[in-house]
Amino acid sequence: MTVDLEFHLKVTLVLVAAVLTLTSAFASIKRFLACRRFVRTHGCQPVSKSLNKDPFLGLDAIPWTIRAVLQHRILERTCERFRVYGNTFTVKELQRRAILTVEPENIKTILSVKFHDYGIKNRLKPFQPLLGKGIFDTDGDHWASSRALIRPSFTRDQVADLTTLEALIQDLFKLLPRDGKTIVDLQDLFFRYTIDSATEFLFGQSVGTLKKNHSDVEFAHAFHYAQRAVIIRGMLGPLKMFYPDRKADECNRICRDFAQQFVEEAFRAVAIQKQGQNNPKAELKQKKHIFSNELASRTTDKIRVQDELMNVLLAGRDTTASLLSNLFFSLTKNPAIWDKLRREVASLDGRAPTYDELRSLRYARCCMNESLRLHPVVPRNEREAVRDTVLPLGGGKDGLSPIFVPKGTLVGYNLYAMHRRTDFYGPDAEEFRPERWEDGNLQPHWEYLPFNGGPRICIGQQYALTEVGYVLVRMAQEFGVLESCDAGPWEESLTLTLCSRNGTKVCLTPA
Ligand code: HEM
Ligand SMILES: *[C@@H]1O[C@H](CO)[C@@H](O)[C@H](O)[C@H]1NC(C)=O
Ligand SMILES: *[C@@H]1O[C@H](CO)[C@@H](O)[C@H](O)[C@H]1NC(C)=O
Ligand SMILES: *[C@@H]1O[C@H](CO)[C@@H](O)[C@H](O)[C@H]1NC(C)=O
Repeated sequence: MTVDLEFHLKVTLVLVAAVLTLTSAFASIKRFLACRRFVRTHGCQPVSKSLNKDPFLGLDAIPWTIRAVLQHRILERTCERFRVYGNTFTVKELQRRAILTVEPENIKTILSVKFHDYGIKNRLKPFQPLLGKGIFDTDGDHWASSRALIRPSFTRDQVADLTTLEALIQDLFKLLPRDGKTIVDLQDLFFRYTIDSATEFLFGQSVGTLKKNHSDVEFAHAFHYAQRAVIIRGMLGPLKMFYPDRKADECNRICRDFAQQFVEEAFRAVAIQKQGQNNPKAELKQKKHIFSNELASRTTDKIRVQDELMNVLLAGRDTTASLLSNLFFSLTKNPAIWDKLRREVASLDGRAPTYDELRSLRYARCCMNESLRLHPVVPRNEREAVRDTVLPLGGGKDGLSPIFVPKGTLVGYNLYAMHRRTDFYGPDAEEFRPERWEDGNLQPHWEYLPFNGGPRICIGQQYALTEVGYVLVRMAQEFGVLESCDAGPWEESLTLTLCSRNGTKVCLTPA
């Protein structure tokens, strides 16, 4: 009896195992045939260059990475790789195959032509504890509704408020030494400037880090720490359960509570405004655009508003500060360019610029374009294929045939390297030379992407260029000499954005 039962059990187990194996084998074969069919119909060729000698785990790339990280030269070394391996090659990262590319046609395909074939699924996990779910860290329908909610707040041309920017400039000027010999780190001050302006724009009230002793501003500290924790969560991936970070949890809570106050306030303001709608006087009072109020007027979901505020703060703050820091670093190393800027700005006779005047300062814009080319503040990015798809370039010996991108593949695109391609920008591509943009000589399309492209193009581009342009112009009016107090060259500091590792150390002499 028992023997019989045991026998039955064994037979059943063997049968189950056999069925499972067969099903899995069958699925593998089906997948293999489907891939082969896909490759044939699209005329795909294999990518001829692969980085790794170890084809299984790609472990051979690890020492290279560690060395590049320690030397703060990840981006520079990656450029060398593209020169050696070509414009599109594959790498193996543990179990996963990734494709890296600096081909504008491929990037256009990922971001625009085949937008729906790619996603950013892997972004949500590390960002969610700080941002919740919003425009920056979701995909698909959720992202589309975020974009629709936020978009109207950025359609105005004059999205950045110059009065606010000017008030902050005065705060900034008060902190700048004027003796031509005291060293000041502009980068640090620019990060304070942009958190002040971003909180004013989003919440209607600045945290005032330039005004106050900034070690007293709890929110600014918490936000800084929370962003670093995002990067660490991103690097650790599933291992992060072994590395709990209580301080990060606390900082996330501080940041979210901080935003929540303003959400409550925004909903109150909107309710009052609705009540007063038959009273035209009440309408007039709400002249200043406050981002949180605008969102609150378009949805009843408070968590949603809080999440989107955090998302936009994260997307907009460090990016703008990093552009300012990198731009001023390059300007300190090129006194002739500073002089030329000052000559252009002289047309304002010392007055603060209006929107139209700001837009008409062409050389200032050339300088911003050039800084974003040489030091794109989002220097590399990636997307994951959500279905089998195809990229137009990178296959075959010459790299000119299409390539197959199986579902689940990561495709990384490197703007830092693409912006330094000599075939697009000439032999002096590594130099900071704003003149290359003069007279509309350079009208790049997908080979220049500081703000990304396609449906997920940066929504704050106009805001950022206004803010950076404003600071640039006001500084050029105020200071005749901007002297570098940093003997070394620019070195990368690569966090969520790209800025200068040694800050932007200058000595200033008033005009
Ligand atoms: C120099 C300054 C800036 C640069 C270089 C920059 C660059 C970028 C880039 C490259 C992306 C695409 C990210 C991706 O899809 O992977 C992006 C997205 C975004 N940016 Fe900016 N940005 C800047 C300033 C700002 C500002 C000031 C704001 C808001 C006030 C802002 C709001 C956003 C938002 C909300 C997104 C997400 C858009 C979406 O996914 O639909 N950015 N930005
Ligand atoms: C800012 O605060 C720190 C500690 O609270 C103090 O050491 C420093 O002197 C203060 N600086 C200013 C400018 O008040
Ligand atoms: C700056 O770059 C943008 C984007 O490529 C371009 O449209 C614009 O004309 C450039 N501005 C100048 C002054 O070159
Ligand atoms: C960083 O800045 C300091 C001055 O604060 C300077 O002594 C040092 O040489 C700089 N380092 C590099 C690598 O430029």
